Amino acid sequence: MKITLIPGDGIGPEIIKSLKAVMEKTGLDITWEEYVAGADAYKKTGTYLPEELFQSLEKNKIGIKGPVTTPIGEGFSSVNVALRKKYDLYANIRPVKRIGKVPSLYPNVDIIIFRENTEDLYAGIEKQISPTEAHSIKVITQEKSIRIIKKAFDYAKEHGIEKVTVVTKANIMKLTDGLFLQCARDVAKNYKGIQLEEVLIDNMCMQLVMHPENYKVIVTENLYGDILSDLCAGLVGGLGLIPGANIGENLAIFEAVHGSAPDIAGKDLANPTAILLSGAMLLDYIGHEDKGNSIRKAIEKVLSNTDNFTYELGGKVGTREFTTCILKEMER
Ligand code: NAI
Repeated sequence: MKITLIPGDGIGPEIIKSLKAVMEKTGLDITWEEYVAGADAYKKTGTYLPEELFQSLEKNKIGIKGPVTTPIGEGFSSVNVALRKKYDLYANIRPVKRIGKVPSLYPNVDIIIFRENTEDLYAGIEKQISPTEAHSIKVITQEKSIRIIKKAFDYAKEHGIEKVTVVTKANIMKLTDGLFLQCARDVAKNYKGIQLEEVLIDNMCMQLVMHPENYKVIVTENLYGDILSDLCAGLVGGLGLIPGANIGENLAIFEAVHGSAPDIAGKDLANPTAILLSGAMLLDYIGHEDKGNSIRKAIEKVLSNTDNFTYELGGKVGTREFTTCILKEMER
């Protein structure tokens, strides 16, 4: 099987090395088609997203990527957002669950976030009005709202979950968020037995910090979804643990929720769990759920022993040693 691979930058290459070893340990015959993206690609090819990368993705229909740095407040636009938009990867799915004995005040968190991945303030329509004024346009459409909301409801139906929580700020942004909320109300009518719960984003943040166990499926717009997934990651031990999928009609790219973590890059400090779990999601997606489960089981076992904790979890184990623990566990 051929998988398009973008190692990314920052901690990307370190965690991707771990991913390759663990995915190969499942026994599947994987050929990696590897391409650079972002600033590294620009240096080598003069473009942030090389044409060969597109060709590989379009042929394989499946990709996995490490984080790619986006300059803050200046410079080139996010290649992550560009890929999601180019391939209409509309569903950003991020499961958040406590693993093993990872320190957390909330042992019972089990939430899956469905984030609309192609519009909202991420549409990139920004305008400098004057040196002291800039505008950004928020785009919400009925078609794109309905398809992500349906995805969340379908998931709830398949998994016997009786409530979907839609998160907006429709009291203030009555037209854009109001439309998203109306779409949720319309979609909900077709799912008998699943309650639609409506929560405003500010209240949602507080509720998640106080009673995260009350939420199972959350569906929301692009920006709120991005922020809520980092918040939820913080409930269960941090960004090193939370995987993600970007799913479109014909193509999917898997990646961790976290970024390139420049503060710890190149130091063997990164926790590869998030990208390994993203790899497990990829295997589920292509019909190898048993192999995905073998990775999840090994991670659960390894993180049930506090001696195996990586630095950000309060332990002393580096990326390479952690990977060895996972590989050994998969052998058992
Ligand atoms: P970040 O997610 O890279 O880091 C936030 C904090 O979490 C840092 O303290 C970092 O050390 C820690 N952390 C992240 N991943 C970790 C891991 N695997 N193990 C242990 N600790 C980990 O967010 P930040 O610093 O805001 O962004 C850095 C860069 O990453 C920016 O250029 C941003 O645009 C980019 N980014 C890229 C994403 C992607 O490629 N999908 C997603 C999010 C951010």
